[in-house]
Amino acid sequence: MKVIDSIDELRRARRALEGSVAFVPTMGYLHEGHLELMREANRRADHLVVSIFVNPTQFAPGEDLDAYPRDPQGDQNKCAELGTELLFMPTPDNMYAGDHATTVEVAGLDEVLCGQSRPTHFQGVCTVVSKLFNIVAPDVAIFGEKDYQQLAILRRMTRDLNFPIEIVGVPTVREEDGLAISSRNKYLDGQQRQDARCLSQALAMAWRAYERGERDAEKLVGVAKARLRETVQLDAIDYVECVDPDSLERLNGDKRYIDEQRGAVLAMAVQVGHARLIDNLRLDRP
Ligand code: PAJ
Repeated sequence: MKVIDSIDELRRARRALEGSVAFVPTMGYLHEGHLELMREANRRADHLVVSIFVNPTQFAPGEDLDAYPRDPQGDQNKCAELGTELLFMPTPDNMYAGDHATTVEVAGLDEVLCGQSRPTHFQGVCTVVSKLFNIVAPDVAIFGEKDYQQLAILRRMTRDLNFPIEIVGVPTVREEDGLAISSRNKYLDGQQRQDARCLSQALAMAWRAYERGERDAEKLVGVAKARLRETVQLDAIDYVECVDPDSLERLNGDKRYIDEQRGAVLAMAVQVGHARLIDNLRLDRP
């Protein structure tokens, strides 16, 4: 495995690879969720390229950029074990020139769900992923469904900007008790770790209602919220929403009945201690 921090060197090494390339972009502190993306990448292409870059432009002032957990040596070992050929670990200075002025924005999709409380976040994500796509030039790029809105936005961006890249989504990897694995789970202490189970439990309760035939998205949101409220205060709930899987339009009012062909996504963000946790569930045909 080559560990590379320079853009030119990465480009040279990538050009030397024969056959197809799958790319897994990450911010490091790698866990089982990331590793699952790498396994999927190995199934989809001849070569695996991984990037680790804690992207400053997707953190707002006051968010956890400086506290974001890092483990470069552990990450390198995991990447090597998973058969990574090129590990790209650029510095912020070689990714962003001092007078960097260009951004990529997927309008509309970035204003809902997490975009309401993180208004600049997805612009940072789209900008860095565009740059990484241009640098790595992969055939396939793999993302987790855990960050469902990010996946939907990056699919739209890839289509709109004609990146010749197939976007693949991988189902959320969970701890045994259901908690979606996340680098930010590190911020949870013992009691908060117990409380954090309320997200997946709320989704599970909504799923059971859906299976029993409930198709009113507002009712399903109500079921999930009621479970969250058993554990957290109302102001800890950033949002619970049921949205269209592609447009991310909220299913409420006249549009509150879920069309089984299109399906829906039930998504939530909840503050538990110092961690802002997100989770979601696809509501398709049971
Ligand atoms: P990061 O949070 O490190 O996540 C990297 C990838 O791993 C994302 O596609 C994310 O959805 C996926 N992932 C995280 N936890 C997962 C889990 N439990 N199960 C399945 N997949 C999981 O997302 C980012 O970094 C950044 O925004 C990035 C796309 C790298 C741009 O900076």
